[in-house]
Amino acid sequence: MESAVRALRIIDTDDGPRGRITDMDRAELTGGDVMIAARYSSLNYKDALAITGAGKIARKRPLNAGIDVAGVVEASEDERFAPGDAVLVTGWQLSETRDGGLADYVRVPGGCVTALPDGLTPWEAMALGTAGFTAALALTRLRDNYQTPELGPVLVTGASGGLGMLAIQMLAQAGFAPVAVTRRVETQGPALRELGATDVIAPDALDLGGKPLGRETYGGAIDALGGAVLADMLGQTVQFGNVAAIGLAASPKLETMVMPFILRGVSLLGINSVECPAARRDGIWRELAGALKPAQLERIAHETIGLNEVHAVCDAIMAGEHQGRTVVDVTR
Ligand SMILES: NC(=O)c1ccc[n+]([C@@H]2O[C@H](COP(=O)([O-])OP(=O)(O)OC[C@H]3O[C@@H](n4cnc5c(N)ncnc54)[C@H](OP(=O)(O)O)[C@@H]3O)[C@@H](O)[C@H]2O)c1
Repeated sequence: MESAVRALRIIDTDDGPRGRITDMDRAELTGGDVMIAARYSSLNYKDALAITGAGKIARKRPLNAGIDVAGVVEASEDERFAPGDAVLVTGWQLSETRDGGLADYVRVPGGCVTALPDGLTPWEAMALGTAGFTAALALTRLRDNYQTPELGPVLVTGASGGLGMLAIQMLAQAGFAPVAVTRRVETQGPALRELGATDVIAPDALDLGGKPLGRETYGGAIDALGGAVLADMLGQTVQFGNVAAIGLAASPKLETMVMPFILRGVSLLGINSVECPAARRDGIWRELAGALKPAQLERIAHETIGLNEVHAVCDAIMAGEHQGRTVVDVTR
C-alpha cells in the first residue's frame, strides 16, 4: 500500500474554514499526472488567509493548504518530467481548487510544473516562492512598459513583508532606487536600507488628502496594499511611469480619477501570479536563478519551520507582525 500523506488541510469547522494537520491517503489527492515528493513550501499572505480562515481561499474543502511547493518528481505520466527531476509549483490554484504544497506529497497536472532552474536549490526556490515570483513578474512588467531607473525612485509598499523585501532587493540589483513604504519605519527601516532601499517612509507620507494629483515625485511603484495608498501613488507618479498592483493587504477598493492616466500617461499594471502562462513563468524563474536572485535571500528568508509551527506564523502574518519570508520544511 502507498504511504499516507501528512498535510496541513483546510477543513470546515463550526468557526469556518481552518487548517489542521491530518493524515490522508495518496489516492485522495486532487488529480494530476505528476506526483511530487515535496520537500519545502513557504508562507505567503494568501496562505495565512486560508489557514486562519480570515479569507475563503480554498474553494472546495477539505483541501490541502499551501500555494507553493518544491520537491522531486516521484512518478510522472507527463513525458516532460521523469522520476528524480527537481521541480517547483507556485500558484496554479494550489490551495484554491487543487491540494496544495503544505503536504509531503503533491499531485498536479504536468502543465503546472516548472523544472527547477540551474542556480536555485529547492530551499531557495521556496525562499522566493510566490512572493519572489510575483515581485519578479511585477519588475518585468514595469520594464516591459519602459520603466527605467532614470524615471525616478520606485515605491514598494508592504515593504517589510515577504514580497516587499524581495522586491526592494530585486529593484536595487536591477539599478532602480527603491523607496520602502512601511508602517514600521523605526523597527524595519535599518533592515530595509540594508536590502537596498534608498529611503524608508510611512504610508501617511504619501497622503494627497483626496486630491487626484500631487507633485510628480516617483518613477513608479509596486503596491501590495490597494486602497487610498494606491490612489495616492498614482497621483505622484511621473509622466509615463508605471504602478504595478499586486495586493490588497489594506483594501480591495480603488477610488481614483482618470487624471494620472490621461494627463500624465501613468499606467496601472495588473499582476496575476496564479495564472501566469507557463512560457513567461519559466523565463522569470530562470531570471530568478540568475540576475534577479536576491543577494541576501537567506537573510530575507530568516526562518525554516516544520508543519507544526505554521499556525503561529500565519497568526503573525494576519496581525501584521511578520517580517520577510518563512520557508516550511514539509518533511519535519
Ligand atoms: N497578485 C498576485 O499574484 C499576488 C501574489 C503574491 C502576493 N500578492 C499579494 O501581495 C501582498 C503581499 O504578500 P506577502 O505574501 O508579501 O504578504 P506579507 O508578507 O504578509 O506582507 C504584507 C505586508 O503588507 C503590510 N500590511 C499588512 N497588512 C496591512 C494593512 N492592513 N494595512 C497596511 N499595510 C499592511 C505589512 O508591511 P509593513 O508592516 O511593512 O507596512 C506586511 O508585512 C498581499 O496582499 C498578497 O495577497 C499578490
